[in-house]
Amino acid sequence: MNQLDFIRALPKAELHVHIEGTFEPELMFAIAQRNEVEIPYKSVEEVKQAYNFHNLQSFLDIYYAGANVLIHEQDFYDLAWAYFEKCAEDKVVHTEMFFDPQTHTDRGIAFSTVINGLQRACDDAKEKFGISSHLIMCFLRHLSEEAAFETLEQALPYKDQIIGVGLDSSEVGHPPSKFERVFAKAREAGFLVVAHAGEEGPAEYVWEALDLLKVNRIDHGVRSEEDETLMARLIAEKMPLTVCPLSNLKLCVVDDMAKHNIRRLLQKGVHVTVNSDDPSYFGGYMNDNFIAITEALDLTKDELKQLAINSFEASFISDDEKQKWSEQIQAMA
Ligand code: ADE
Ligand code: ZN
Repeated sequence: MNQLDFIRALPKAELHVHIEGTFEPELMFAIAQRNEVEIPYKSVEEVKQAYNFHNLQSFLDIYYAGANVLIHEQDFYDLAWAYFEKCAEDKVVHTEMFFDPQTHTDRGIAFSTVINGLQRACDDAKEKFGISSHLIMCFLRHLSEEAAFETLEQALPYKDQIIGVGLDSSEVGHPPSKFERVFAKAREAGFLVVAHAGEEGPAEYVWEALDLLKVNRIDHGVRSEEDETLMARLIAEKMPLTVCPLSNLKLCVVDDMAKHNIRRLLQKGVHVTVNSDDPSYFGGYMNDNFIAITEALDLTKDELKQLAINSFEASFISDDEKQKWSEQIQAMA
């Protein structure tokens, strides 16, 4: 089997995808029209032309604007359902998707509207495709600690449907320490915790995510390589990094995929995984990310298998499920 077919056949878990970042322009137009919401583009082509980002903030400005058309429960359902169809195509058999409640509640959309739509899609994906999923609620780090506390309060009635909390949005200037107390409260309430760190921000933010937020995984974390002591700790603790290669390229975290450090991190023993982040904006879903790094970095089948096994090992599924998928992947030739 060639590498491409091998990638397609590999079962995978996705651990870093923002559901609002899966919003394809075609669906955005359809929902904008049925909700009678104006968007500042005349055509799908115009939308795509606007996607020439050069850093995280220039992307986030467009990403938040796109989410404005989501109003009704069915809109959130349709958004998540379209993503699950991509998972089915890419053999993503388990996904842990982020959602940003504040992007919606700050526009007057009820928390229940968002979560009910997403949950219904998760239930249907399990039934129709056999894809399992968890929801992770992210706090927007450019907003205040107080706003994050309020969001955590709103999430408590839905505790059984939300496995964890995360931290996303503009990284530089908004270190993990800003949310130390919110994360302590979230952990006390029984949420697992993850945080974006070391995407545009320095290795110091990864230390803070580990020491102050006590995260179960680091999202991105590619800048950890700049700090040898941190690298030793990540390896010793088997701390997962949810790496997003096409995202890093599109947002100029790396200027050439051939220079991406994911293969080096893997070879050094860091528990790296492959993910799509915001696939509609960054030019590809899970398999596109696998293909991009395989072509640029010449990954072997054993390395591809290790990346896929890592994705299940780093996920929040049961140990039995982890073992089942690992054995299935190990047996692939
Ligand atoms: N929100 C959506 N995608 C993000 C990313 N790559 N970094 C930070 N916040 C985000
Ligand atoms: Zn992200």
